[in-house]
Amino acid sequence: MNSLHDSPFLAACRSEPHHHTPVWFMRQAGRSLPEYRKIRGEGSILDAIKNAELSTEITLQPVHRYNTDAAILYSDIVVPLHALGFGVEIQPGIGPVVENPFRSAEDLKRLRPLDPDSDTPYVLETIRLLVGELNVPLIGFAGAPFTLASYLIEGAPSRTYTKTKALMMNDPELWDSLMSRLVEIVISSLRSQISAGVSAIQLFDSWAGALSPSAYERFVLPYSKEIFSAVQNEHVPTIHFGVGTGEILHLMASAGSSVMGVDWRTPLDAARDRLGLEVALQGNLDPAICFASENVIATEVRNILDKNAGHPGHIFNLGHGVLPETNPQVLERIVEQVHSYPLNSAEMK
Ligand code: CP3
Repeated sequence: MNSLHDSPFLAACRSEPHHHTPVWFMRQAGRSLPEYRKIRGEGSILDAIKNAELSTEITLQPVHRYNTDAAILYSDIVVPLHALGFGVEIQPGIGPVVENPFRSAEDLKRLRPLDPDSDTPYVLETIRLLVGELNVPLIGFAGAPFTLASYLIEGAPSRTYTKTKALMMNDPELWDSLMSRLVEIVISSLRSQISAGVSAIQLFDSWAGALSPSAYERFVLPYSKEIFSAVQNEHVPTIHFGVGTGEILHLMASAGSSVMGVDWRTPLDAARDRLGLEVALQGNLDPAICFASENVIATEVRNILDKNAGHPGHIFNLGHGVLPETNPQVLERIVEQVHSYPLNSAEMK
């Protein structure tokens, strides 16, 4: 058993007792850090990700600065699709864009299976370098099929997902073929990250909250479920996350992850009422609260910890990624506060 097994982060993923509440931040590596801006260079983030030494350094930066309980691999959810040659790029300040979006069965040919050793060797090299350096667990990740499909179909970030929803409703068969291809790609990617040494994986279904419960259940859940069952026998904890998912949280949880990500719209105690005590929770400070005064932030952090009521399955995080303008000192203070919170004080009240 490796020495990280008893780390607060992995213990909390298993809902087992540990000595402090673990904390990390989605998008902890990135533009909010001056040391990131210094070494990131110009050019596409996809090129930075192809440089394993640089990606290793960027992954380590927030761990060193904030003393987080986990590292998250510096990569992106569109990396496998980019590597397959689908024509996905990331435009600074915008996000993923696709030159020729997915439109018809013809486009399935552009989504061959992923061979991680030859398609994304730099990701695996970064993981191996990091595992040698880190003394906290490394989180690997993938985009969930729905969120990936939304980029492929819309061709750019969207607020309404009109093309994606039209395709799933009008042509369920083509939707099934597309989602099945994405499931295979995601499973290959996650398995390769686990073999290379990540200690946990997170499935980002960031935009699943755009769907009604019935659409989620019919068009998304079966595919995400397939992913969690495929990686279950790899014995690493799994985290499932999306934004605006309060109304579908129970459905997302039924996909079978060990941890559910909760955004700030759903209080942790409400999430527990909906999901029961078996699944661990990750979250859920509103990233915008980081721009309030020191006292307000401390009160909000305390409220979240109190709402968790001493449950061992809680990983503190933001409800979505760190905003680029965030002052890193705010995150430093949050880590200190979470780490010094007495784990059984809420129970004793
Ligand atoms: O620190 C970390 O969390 C690890 C690195 C990471 C990135 N992207 C790096 C990145 C992770 C986990 C992601 C996942 C990701 N990428 C998601 C799911 C998480 C979420 O935010 O919901 C999504 C939806 C994407 C797609 C994507 N990539 C977007 C929307 C953007 C932002 C575009 C912009 O410039 O604002 C990206 C680019 C990106 N990925 C950046 C980073 C650090 C910023 C661009 C840069 O630094 O060059």
